[in-house]
Amino acid sequence: MIFAGYATDPEVTRYLLWKPHKSINDTVDFLARCYFLIQERVAFPFSITMKGTDELVGMTEMRIAGSRIDLGYVLGRKHWNQGIMTEAVQQLIAVGFQEPTIFRVGATCHTENIASARVLEKAGMVREGILRCYSLFPNLGPTPEDVYSYAITK
Ligand SMILES: CC(C)(COP(=O)(O)OP(=O)(O)OC[C@H]1O[C@@H](n2cnc3c(N)ncnc32)[C@H](O)[C@@H]1OP(=O)(O)O)[C@@H](O)C(=O)NCCC(=O)NCCS
Repeated sequence: MIFAGYATDPEVTRYLLWKPHKSINDTVDFLARCYFLIQERVAFPFSITMKGTDELVGMTEMRIAGSRIDLGYVLGRKHWNQGIMTEAVQQLIAVGFQEPTIFRVGATCHTENIASARVLEKAGMVREGILRCYSLFPNLGPTPEDVYSYAITK
């Protein structure tokens, strides 16, 4: 579902930090990385499924950095603009703040990724500013690009 659903789609991966998967081996490697991150307790990937089905339509990831959680997320294109990721991000914020040691949940997104910025705003995060030349986007070019920094605090 990851491979066929979204990981090979260049529209989906345009503003992500990874290139579209070329073969199922890329997806297998990705899942091995997920397993490693969970084992090491540095990040927690979650799959998003539609209510009442086992269909995986996207994923989120919570990356733990001390008293902070940084979020990442992706959704298959046919499920865009139905409020799914806003609901998912709201849930991640709620879960994150249940941890007494976590005081901030944040995310960055490319300044042209309007849908992602909107998700973060609808989930209650505040745009803190622009981090200039901050992240390399392998599907856009070889130089780092500007991103918005968003966060919500406890
Ligand atoms: C970003 C992404 C996760 C959004 O998920 P989603 O479930 O479609 O988001 P939601 O439906 O909750 O909200 C999307 C909002 O963006 C708006 N939007 C989407 N495209 C837009 C555009 N081109 N211009 C203006 N607004 C746009 C929608 O109208 C909606 O806002 P609204 O509810 O006020 O109408 C999804 O588009 C995606 O997976 N993109 C590719 C991967 C990616 O970019 N991940 C984020 C990396 S930071």
